[in-house]
Amino acid sequence: MAEQEQQDASGGVLTRGDAEGVTPQGTAKDSLSVTDNRTGEQYEVEITDGTVKAMDFRQMKVDEDDFGLMAYDPAFTNTAHCRSDITYIDGEAGVLEYRGYPIGRLCEESTYLEVAHLLIYGELPNQDQLNEWIFEITHHTFVHENIKKFVEGFRYDAHPMGMLLATVGALSTFYPDAINIDDETERHMAGVRMIAKMPTLAAFAYRHNLGLPYIYPDNDLGYPGNFLSMMYKMTETKYEPDPRLERALDVLWILHADHEQNCSTAAVRSVGSSQVDPYSAVAAGVAALYGPLHGGANEQVLRMLERIETTDNIPDFLEGVKNRDEKLMGFGHRVYKNYDPRAEIIKKHVDEVFEVTGKNPKLDIAVELEKRALDDDYFAERKLYPNVDFYSGLIYEALQLPKDMFTVMFAIPRTSGWVAQWLEMTQDEETKIARPRQVYSGARQRDYQPVADREQKVDPPTGVGATTVIDPAAGPTPSEGR
Ligand code: CMC
Repeated sequence: MAEQEQQDASGGVLTRGDAEGVTPQGTAKDSLSVTDNRTGEQYEVEITDGTVKAMDFRQMKVDEDDFGLMAYDPAFTNTAHCRSDITYIDGEAGVLEYRGYPIGRLCEESTYLEVAHLLIYGELPNQDQLNEWIFEITHHTFVHENIKKFVEGFRYDAHPMGMLLATVGALSTFYPDAINIDDETERHMAGVRMIAKMPTLAAFAYRHNLGLPYIYPDNDLGYPGNFLSMMYKMTETKYEPDPRLERALDVLWILHADHEQNCSTAAVRSVGSSQVDPYSAVAAGVAALYGPLHGGANEQVLRMLERIETTDNIPDFLEGVKNRDEKLMGFGHRVYKNYDPRAEIIKKHVDEVFEVTGKNPKLDIAVELEKRALDDDYFAERKLYPNVDFYSGLIYEALQLPKDMFTVMFAIPRTSGWVAQWLEMTQDEETKIARPRQVYSGARQRDYQPVADREQKVDPPTGVGATTVIDPAAGPTPSEGR
């Protein structure tokens, strides 16, 4: 359809189609007709891919001095902030695809490293490319010795996600050339390094918490096997990972590799849009993932199952959720209004892992909790189904991982998604520095008071923690528990 764009007298965006694409009223079919009732002006706004451009609304003003209409969307619940070819989700139907491949098929047929290649470069690698990709990742797993010293500087009980956040950010200082984001080789190397080093950083953080010596990467092992070695190797000369655990871990990592514009990915793109180096952008993703509503949810699921204690307590717990005293962690999703397809796949692998590790008694509570919640109108009406985090924590616990490590286990595979999204963002001509607007609701034009004349208007916080004086000799106080 030949289209021409023009602006009407009042500045509204007009998109007129040819006869074929025009409504009986003479307006283009792929458009939105808007009447601004404040002025009576009519506007026609173009619709492309089911979206309207928020900037088109800026034309709609009550007078010349008016800034123009803005869209108000505090949590970006209905705002597309980019175009992307990486991950497709149909939340209503419970569909997830990476670069067009259904997630179930990738979990059955591929390894995590193949999927990382797919996400980053758009295609599954052929055998030669795969060999080269594995070689590159395997040969960048070591970190500078000073990173090790840096990790040693954390308190013995530092949260491993806090350590990961800091060490990923610190990588930017070891690879200062990564700031050259227009250089294709630098972009590629940053991606390789982050995917390769993330398991090393994660394992160092884990060993630090246990006071155990850090284990260097073993190039003879595959990506998940090497991670297990760095985590669990003790006095044996060679760590031999159980192939069933390696595979379960690999599948979990495929499932967590990307999930389009979630909180952490949006953070990576937003911070990356300032043209900072990719390590710093990915550190922003790690920070976002740390939160209990995002990557921290599986840790909360386990804590919740512990609190419930036995299946007998489930009805009371669910009453608490309905009274809003509790949240059913691992349920609900911003996008999926159906069973999260990742939860379905994980559930299948739970039994395989328990074959190796022995059954976790919390599984019975989880299964019964899921069943009762799915049968309950409260959850059905709100389209609340188990999400990826409902069962993943049980697998991590079976691997004897402390709960603090669960989010770290999410960050390791999500790195390939963050890198893919960051690369796509840097190559997108529409990318500009992210800079949302606000609706200002505060005071204006106040009289300035000299300090001596000011009345106390804001009470500072009081109680434990308001003013913290750290006495290293005193050790942790009870309130400092993790
Ligand atoms: N338990 C109880 N009620 C819930 C839950 C839950 N887990 N999730 C949503 N609701 C209720 C919520 O109270 C609201 O009810 P009402 O309309 O009566 O006020 C309704 O369902 C809609 O919820 P919402 O808060 O508008 O949904 P959202 O899209 O803003 O939140 C969510 C999505 C994931 C933050 C939320 O479902 C949640 O907090 N879930 C628990 C945490 C969790 O499992 N997070 C992991 C997400 S999956 C991993 C990832 O991809 O990051």
